[in-house]
Amino acid sequence: MNVADTRAALSARGGRLFAKIPVWPNSLARRTLLTLLVGLVVVQGAGLTIHAFDRMKLQRFAELRDLGMRSMSIYRTVVGTAPGERGAALRELELGPYMRATLAGGPAVVPEVMEPPYVGQIRVNMGLVQVRPANRPRDVVIRGTPWSDPINIGLQMPDWGWLNLSAKLPPPRPWHSREFLLAFVLMTVAAALLSIWAVRRLTGPVALLAEAAERLGRDVNAPPLPERGPDEVVRAAVAFNTMAARIRRFVQDRTFLLTAIGHDLRTPITRLKLRAEFIEDDEQRQKFMADLDELDAMVSATLVFGRDTADTEPAVPFDLVALLRTVLDDAADARPDVGESLSFAGPAHLTVRGRILALKRVFANLVGNAVKYGGAARVVLDPSAGLAIVSIEDDGPGLPPGELERVFEPFYRVEDSRNRETGGTGLGLPIARNILRAHGGDVVLGNRQGGGARALVTLPA
Ligand SMILES: Nc1ncnc2c1ncn2[C@@H]1O[C@H](COP(=O)(O)OP(=O)(O)O)[C@@H](O)[C@H]1O
Ligand SMILES: [Mg+2]
Repeated sequence: MNVADTRAALSARGGRLFAKIPVWPNSLARRTLLTLLVGLVVVQGAGLTIHAFDRMKLQRFAELRDLGMRSMSIYRTVVGTAPGERGAALRELELGPYMRATLAGGPAVVPEVMEPPYVGQIRVNMGLVQVRPANRPRDVVIRGTPWSDPINIGLQMPDWGWLNLSAKLPPPRPWHSREFLLAFVLMTVAAALLSIWAVRRLTGPVALLAEAAERLGRDVNAPPLPERGPDEVVRAAVAFNTMAARIRRFVQDRTFLLTAIGHDLRTPITRLKLRAEFIEDDEQRQKFMADLDELDAMVSATLVFGRDTADTEPAVPFDLVALLRTVLDDAADARPDVGESLSFAGPAHLTVRGRILALKRVFANLVGNAVKYGGAARVVLDPSAGLAIVSIEDDGPGLPPGELERVFEPFYRVEDSRNRETGGTGLGLPIARNILRAHGGDVVLGNRQGGGARALVTLPA
């Protein structure tokens, strides 16, 4: 699966589960962060609301208590004054911006059947102001709501008339000071920053692990993951490194076996060649020798294959364009007769990461095949979205559709008279594919529209 496939698979999955959330991000870090930040805002918002309501309630409580005592002390002053001077006494009182007081023959408000609950608060606190028993109000009427309307209080004086008070409570203040709000915002920002930092730190290793897996796919000999950090991260890194080491050993064991077999076959082949000298019949001897030579060539190719794959040549960044040009130059030197039909098209430079010698063998074989079987090699390099795509085209007969994949099997050669004199062993393509796949790339063969074959190489850039 390449990078684009992975991305498509990821977004398909994300899309299914969270299609309804338009801002739901794809990365683990962003998801965790979004969840944390939304949670933080909700918790802080709820905390602030609870605090504000509590404060407002407390504030009202204090104001109502104050109102009860103030109305009673106004009443006491008015009642203690001779009836004719009461209006003047009232005017002299400092009532403050929220309170108005008038004298009248009756209450300014009609008593309610049911008094609102806050009225009890006012009444209780009226009792806290001492009034001579003879001067006690004959009747008390309270109306209004403490939140918006003015509260009207009517107090009936014992001798004549009513003292009517109208109090408009100041608007509620949900928080006490500017500093409180500032501190609250600072707190929220600090918590948010801490979350960002923590999420970054915690999800970093996941990205690292994905990167390492990707690297291992391109190069079995990639350096191991650092085994540092929190316990879980160390465990994951150790497990990953162990897995990588096992894969490496498995690959090494297989190639070692292959080269060992190849090696051991050499001696009997040499012995057979010596013995063949004693065959009397000339024709038989020649055929026998030819078969042995072919066998020898196959064994040599097998050994080369083993050496190539077991190679611990390090993967390094290099210029793919320079490598392709070198391969073409070499091919032109080897076959001056087709020199004209060798060409390169593509950017001036393209840096990729890989094992230079192994990749050189890949392109040498593909260009060699194009020249050998197609009489030309037009190489086109096309860098696109994290991939280097190299196509190698020729002017030959191409391949029967059924053979396009079979030629990648070891020692398989298309049975055709033209192959007789070419003298290959049929290991070039399998080796090329093996090397490319070890780099996280691949190679396929196809036929061009106008005739001729095309080898298409992909290589992660
Ligand atoms: N460009 C090409 N055009 C036609 N046939 C090809 C081409 N490249 C490879 N082949 C076929 O695939 C076979 C396998 O190729 P390869 O693995 O390189 O082995 P070799 O070149 O040693 O025969 C070749 O024998 C040939 O028949
Ligand atoms: Mg070949």
